[in-house]
Amino acid sequence: MSSVTDVYTAVDLGRGLRLKNRVLVASGTFAYADTVGELIDVSRLGGVITKAISLQPREGNPPPRIVEVPGGMLNAIGLANVGLERFVREKLPRLRLLDTAVIVNVVGFSTAEYVELVRRLDEHEGIDGYEVNLSCPNVKEGGACFADDARMTAEVVGALRAVTERHLMIKLSPGVPRIGQIARVCQEEGADSVSLINTVVGMAVDIRTRRPRLANVTGGYSGPAIKPIALARVWEAYKAVRIPLVGIGGIMSAEDAIEFFLVGAQAVQVGTGTFVMPDLAVRIVEGIEAFCRAEGIADVAELVGGLRV
Ligand SMILES: Cc1cc2nc3c(=O)[nH]c(=O)nc-3n(C[C@H](O)[C@H](O)[C@H](O)COP(=O)(O)O)c2cc1C
Repeated sequence: MSSVTDVYTAVDLGRGLRLKNRVLVASGTFAYADTVGELIDVSRLGGVITKAISLQPREGNPPPRIVEVPGGMLNAIGLANVGLERFVREKLPRLRLLDTAVIVNVVGFSTAEYVELVRRLDEHEGIDGYEVNLSCPNVKEGGACFADDARMTAEVVGALRAVTERHLMIKLSPGVPRIGQIARVCQEEGADSVSLINTVVGMAVDIRTRRPRLANVTGGYSGPAIKPIALARVWEAYKAVRIPLVGIGGIMSAEDAIEFFLVGAQAVQVGTGTFVMPDLAVRIVEGIEAFCRAEGIADVAELVGGLRV
């Protein structure tokens, strides 16, 4: 085995989104890089993805909205966020100074809302791309979730492609029978990449009070327990599309991240793991490099899609 001293870690995900390495922090688990971001060296990351931003500020769901369960956690935050105007005024100036890629996670409740949000964000410097969170209800279509429907997904992606030159990463939900088909629709409508998976719907019950442990009754399940689901979904999407995939779900170590590379992810996001260990994503960056050095791998790209089947 040849010895490798310098491992090439960077990746170009297309349309101006160049990452110094393949590890990002996931939306909703790193705020606006202003809380956990203070505790770690953000410049060591491939990129940060903000909490979802909506046109208007949102209070989110009533508490309790987070519970710990075996294998991870349930959350029903309800997309609480500061809204577009405060984001641009208070959060973006600081994000812009970070020496890492900044991706803004956007959420809307109609196609028109997504379009207006991205159009207005596009007026501002310091954003390297958008991650489009489709796991929310379309109020114009009776509250059906965008991500569960190929036609609604196509409509949003096509409409956003028409208004922005920035990188569009479309975030998919695992709750669909054929995720490869949804990923293909994203590709056809001009998406630059697809990230997957968002949380898995779950619930927990307090047997003494007989009440749900989340005020919202159900929530999104995240953490180590969802990793096998996420790996299978990324593999399914990998077989369906050519655009880059970004793997998310239960990543707690460099080894977990490498599993995602092998099933076809070009990059990964660390979510719940950051709550357990604030600097986990940085440790994963270092762990991937150490693995590559030990295995004689000169470029992390050699791992991508390397699954032997
Ligand atoms: C507390 C919390 C808040 C989240 N908020 C968002 C959000 O605002 N937008 C979004 O697209 N995903 C959100 N997610 C989903 C994560 O970005 C990620 O897709 C999911 O948690 C799976 O990854 P993990 O198992 O590493 O946490 C949130 C997850 C958690 C745990």
